[in-house]
Amino acid sequence: MVERIIPIVKEAAGLMVRSGFDVMEKGSSENLVTSSDLAVQRFLVGRLSALVPGSGFLCEEDDFKDLSHEYVWIVDPIDGTANYARGIQDCCVSVALTKGGEEVAGVVYSPWRNELYWAERGCGAFLDGRPIRVSDRPFSDGMLCAAMSTYRKEYAQTCSGIIFDIYMRSNDFRRFGSAALELCLMAAGKIDLYFEMRLQPWDYAAAGLILSEAGGVSCGFDGKRLSLSRQSMTLAANNKANLDTILDIVHSHMDELPY
Ligand code: IPD
Ligand code: CA
Ligand code: CA
Repeated sequence: MVERIIPIVKEAAGLMVRSGFDVMEKGSSENLVTSSDLAVQRFLVGRLSALVPGSGFLCEEDDFKDLSHEYVWIVDPIDGTANYARGIQDCCVSVALTKGGEEVAGVVYSPWRNELYWAERGCGAFLDGRPIRVSDRPFSDGMLCAAMSTYRKEYAQTCSGIIFDIYMRSNDFRRFGSAALELCLMAAGKIDLYFEMRLQPWDYAAAGLILSEAGGVSCGFDGKRLSLSRQSMTLAANNKANLDTILDIVHSHMDELPY
C-alpha cells in the first residue's frame, strides 16, 4: 500500500513548493494556515479517498473529520507551516493510514530537504529507500528536540522547566519547527529525545509509525501510546530507558495534564 501512497504525497508536495501563497491566522499570530495548506489537503483528500474507497479522514485544516470508518487517513498537509510561511525549509507533508484505530502506513515528505520517510507496520522504516534505525546513544549524549507550547503560552514556564532538566542531563537541544520531521530525524538516528506539551494526531501519526518501525518509542503523559483521535503530550526517545527518564522528569514538574 505504501508504494501507492508515496507518489500521491510527492505530487501533493508539488503544490507546496510553488511560489506565491496567502497566509491567514487561525486565532493567533503563532497559528497560521496558508492557501498551500488548503490546496495540499484538498488534493490529498481527493486522491486518498479514491485510493481506499469508503475511507475516513482526520485532517488539520477546516475541521475535516470523519472517523467512523475502518480505514482512516490522518493528514497534516503541511507540518511546519510557520516555517513554510517564512521560507524556512523545514516543513513536510505527513500522511498516515490507520486501520481499526492502528497506524498501518506512514509517509512524511519534505520537498526542500528532499527527504522521503516511510514505514509500513511490520516492514521497517526507510529514508529515500534505505532502511533507518534509531541511535543507541545514552541519555547523557542525547540530542533533544522540544517546543515551548507555541499556541498556549500559559504552559511555557512548565515546558521550560522540563526542557531545562532534560537539557542539563543530555547533550544539547534543537527546535526545527516541524514535529513530524523531528520524529523522523529521531527514526534516522540523528536526534534522540523528544518532548512537546501538546500535539495533535496529525502531527505524529505518520512519524510515530516511522519511529516505532525504526526501533524508537513514544508515549503520552500517562506513559501509554499516543492517541490517534485527540491531542496528547508527546514524548519520544531512541529507547525505553531514555523515554522513562523523560517521563520521570515530566512527572517531577506536573501531577496532571492541564488540558
Ligand atoms: C506544528 C509543528 C511544530 C509544533 C507545533 C505544531 P503545524 O504543526 O509541528 O513543530 O511545535 O505544535 O502545531 O501547525 O506547522 O502543522
Ligand atoms: Ca502539524
Ligand atoms: Ca499543519
